[in-house]
This record gives sequence, C-alpha cells and structure tokens, in this order.
Amino acid sequence: MARILITSAIPYINGIKHLGNLVGSQLPADLFARYHRARGNEVMFLCATDEHGTPAELAAAKAGKPVADYCAEMHEVQSEIADGFRLSFDHFGRSSSPQNHALTQHFAGRLAEAGLIAEVSERQVYSHADGRFLPDRYIEGTCPNCGYDRARGDQCENCTKQLDPTDLIEPRSAISGSTDLEVRETKHLYLRQSQMRDQLDAWIDSKADWPVLTTSIAKKWLHDGDGLQDRGITRDLDWGVPVKKGGADWPGMEGKVFYVWFDAPIEYIACAAEWVDAGKGSDWERWWRTDKGAEDVRYVQFMGKDNVPFHTLSFPATIMGSGEPWKLVDYIKSFNYLNYDGGQFSTSQGRGVFMDQALSILPADYWRWWLLSHAPENSDSEFTWENFQASVNKDLADVLGNFVSRVTKFCRSKFGEQVPEGGSYGPAEAAAIEELTGRIKAYEAHMEAIEIRKAASELRAIWVVGNEYLQSAAPWTAFKTDPEAAAAITRFALNLIPLYAGLSAPFIPDAADAMAKAMGLEGAQWPGSAEDTPLVAGAAFTVPDVLFAKISDDQREEWQTRFAGTR
Ligand code: 2FM
Ligand code: ZN
Repeated sequence: MARILITSAIPYINGIKHLGNLVGSQLPADLFARYHRARGNEVMFLCATDEHGTPAELAAAKAGKPVADYCAEMHEVQSEIADGFRLSFDHFGRSSSPQNHALTQHFAGRLAEAGLIAEVSERQVYSHADGRFLPDRYIEGTCPNCGYDRARGDQCENCTKQLDPTDLIEPRSAISGSTDLEVRETKHLYLRQSQMRDQLDAWIDSKADWPVLTTSIAKKWLHDGDGLQDRGITRDLDWGVPVKKGGADWPGMEGKVFYVWFDAPIEYIACAAEWVDAGKGSDWERWWRTDKGAEDVRYVQFMGKDNVPFHTLSFPATIMGSGEPWKLVDYIKSFNYLNYDGGQFSTSQGRGVFMDQALSILPADYWRWWLLSHAPENSDSEFTWENFQASVNKDLADVLGNFVSRVTKFCRSKFGEQVPEGGSYGPAEAAAIEELTGRIKAYEAHMEAIEIRKAASELRAIWVVGNEYLQSAAPWTAFKTDPEAAAAITRFALNLIPLYAGLSAPFIPDAADAMAKAMGLEGAQWPGSAEDTPLVAGAAFTVPDVLFAKISDDQREEWQTRFAGTR
C-alpha cells in the first residue's frame, strides 16, 4: 500500500471562488485523492483557507466586519461549498490557526539561526491620502517586466513575476486610487533565498518527470534577469502571524506580521496538525517528517501556474533552509487558466460562474465532469455554454446515463428487477472484455500520471464500449427467438454498471454511488478486472432515477445571459 500526501493550493478567504479557481487546484487534487483511495492506497488530502494578508483585510473592510469574524464566516461558507462539490479533504484547515502561527514562527526561528534571514531597512510606500503604509495589494501599477498596467504590489498576474511594491511603475493606492505616495524607511525581514539558488537549481534538475509548465516557470525565475532574489517576508499589518523567532520576541519587529506567502504554504503542514487536534487522526508527523515515518510518502501538490514560483522556490527554500527533515514535494501538477466565454472570469464584474452559483443550477457531477475533461493542462482552456451543454448531453446523458437506463429498463420489462439466469457468454462478450481490459489499463496509467484530459477521454471510451456492445448484441431482438441468449446479454450488460460505477467514481462520485446502489451494492468499488461480475443471477436491482438530465437550449440561453456579468 502506497502512502500519498496531496495538497491543493489553499484558496484566499476573500469571497467565493469561480470555476476557473476550482479546476486549477482543488478539483484535480480531489480526483487524484479519490483515485488513490479507490486503489487501496493510504491518502492524506489537505486544503485550507488562506486567511492572512491584504486580500483578507480589504474584503473584511468592505464587508464592514472585524477581519477575524469575516474569516471565520467565510471559512464556513467555503467549507460548505467544498462539500457541495464533494471535495474529499481529510481536513480543510485555516492558515490563521494557532498551529500555523506556531509552525510559521518556528520556521522563521530556524531560518534565522541558519543565517538565512536578513534584517533590512526597507523603503516602503506610504500613502498620505490613506494615512498608512501600503503593502502588496494595496498598491497597483504597471509591471516593470511586461508592462501590464494592473499589476499588484506582490505579483504581476499577467507574467507571474514576483514583485515588491516599489518595483511598480506609476504606482497608485488600491484603497483610494491616490498617487500621492511617498517612500519611507522601515525595517523588514528578508528570506535570503538567493543563497540557496544552487541547491534549488539542483533539486529542480532532479525532477525530470515534472510537467514542463512547472519546471519552465521555476527555471525562468532561477535564471532570467537578476535570478532568484531575496524576498521580504514581513509586512506592516495587524492581521497575520506576529513576527517571532520560535516563541520569542524579535527585537525591532514589534507590530509586524509575516507576509501571507510566507505562512500560507506552511499551513499545508500545520493543517495536518489541525487534523489531529480536530480528533480525526493521530501522528501527523508521519506524513510530514522524514525522520518520523514520511520517508516512504509520495507528496503531490496541485496549483495554478501563478502559484508555481512560490512552490518551486520560496517554500522549498523555507523547508531546506530550516535544516530539519521536513517532507519536500515530489511532484507538482500545475495548470493554465480557464477562461470564460470569450474573456476572463471576473469577480468585480460578476462575470462567469462562481462555485455557489454552479451548485444552485446543477448537481456537482455535471460540473466535475466538464471541468476535469477540459482541464487547462497544456494550454489555457475556455468555458462556453455550448460546449458545456454538448458535453453533458452527449457524454453524461447519451453515453453513460442512457446505457444504464436502457439495460435496467429492458431487464425490468422482460425479466423483472433481478439479474436474469441462463445462457452463457460467447465471442461478443469476450471481445468487449478484451477491449475493456486494454482501456482500463490505459485509464489507470493516465490517472497515475495525472493526465486528466486523457483519463477522461479513456473513461468516456470505456462507457462507449457498453453502448456499442448493447447495440450490436441487441437483447431486444434476441429475446424474440432465444430468451436464454437475451438473458446472458442482459446479465453481462448489467454487470458493466458496477464496473462503470467504480471506474467513474473519482470523476462523478454521486452518480457512481447511485449506480452502485441501484445494483444492490453498498457503493462504487474499483474493479479487480473487466471480468468482475459482482452481480450474480438472481440478485435484485432497481432502475435508478435519471442519472443525468439533458440541458435544454432554453436553459443554456438563460444561464448564458445570467452569468454574462453586469455588476
Ligand atoms: O493563489 C492563491 O489563491 C493563494 N491563496 C494560494 C496559496 S497556496 C499555498 F502556498 F498555500
Ligand atoms: Zn508582468
């Protein structure tokens, strides 16, 4: 039994995420977690809300709430929506947890002892109009790297370059829009990640199997321009992890907190401690410390491409620099962006479908199937309502749903609601098994390799095998002349339903469960082989409710208008 540690990039606490965010980390991570659990492996799947920093402060201010209250409420909201999408986290933690405070301060202390933290007198932007320093996202301006005119003070979302606020050209306050800004001196801590360049370079070189998207971004920031720069890891904010060395005060750093991107990835680890403290398990260190049992763990991270620099450089620098045997990531699966109907998703304009809205119009499986089968793996991809309607109607309703419905209804009308006896399997069944065996092997290989689109298309081809078998074996015709032969065909086809339930469950867990239960089984089970026949003659089943309803043209048009964005 393998042990797999899986983390999804932790979503910012401010607001409900859109479908592009979902498919860029949490959903593919869930697919992978479900697959490995189904294969009998021991899985620890962790996610959390990313609660510190300026995004949280700005959103709480807008909502007119104290930031701690705002975060607590939004954590509940995000947690419920995650349940709605069947995201099967072992724990959904909070980066503001006491566990993360302690661990973040611990790492900072270790890094300081190792000489990897510099105290730097920094020039920081002060806004006269706002009466305060403006860190990170409180400043917008033009990216010095690519010229994008809405780059934020911490990162340019257009070219992914990590920035410091003073790098921006023509900066303005994101609070007031004021350009009456002044640069003042203040002391901050810097992570001397440039010291670790060779170590990081060698580590990334050792990951020959990583997706090109991941390594190309990492290599770019290691080698382009000035190469890996030291990063400011403290901020002048109230909300966050207070700057301390382990438990001890850090002279000169009073009133400052760690930068959100310093504590957020540490929450991956702290989340496992939260899992224990929530009474869900014991001994979190056997997942995270190679001196305490984690040496045989495979650790896989999921994230959007804008997160790659932090996960390939800054966070590994924190881990390596601590000099302690923490588990480093083994594989980073990163994603391009999902666009929405000819443009981008936009929170401010209400453009595109957000997670809560998606669940209010259709069940999770419809979205899971479309999003995963169109995951932006090799390039950006685009959500259109036409494409969504076509995928749902063809793949889910016509291919899978229709197969299940035809077989169960035919059997009920001719043999009653039990698996029919009599007859035996012949060449047609052998041919179907042979094709399924090859396809299941390919499907498993794609799932192991986290090639999500390829896995989805193989799964669809597996569903098609059932339809084609049924069409050519035609039990309704055979029944007229040879009821025994029709019984064997029906028995064979019925047995494909639990097979499909097991194989499909990582993608569409609710429908898979409904299929297995209709066949009198407890739940979906990964098949041992295509020849598995869990349904013996005489076993009772029921005809399941419609698994997938088709999306009508009227619905499509209505939704297209509703989510076009007007706010
Ligand atoms: O981009 C984001 O949504 C960040 N909140 C991701 C953080 S991932 C990690 F490092 F914790
Ligand atoms: Zn840029």
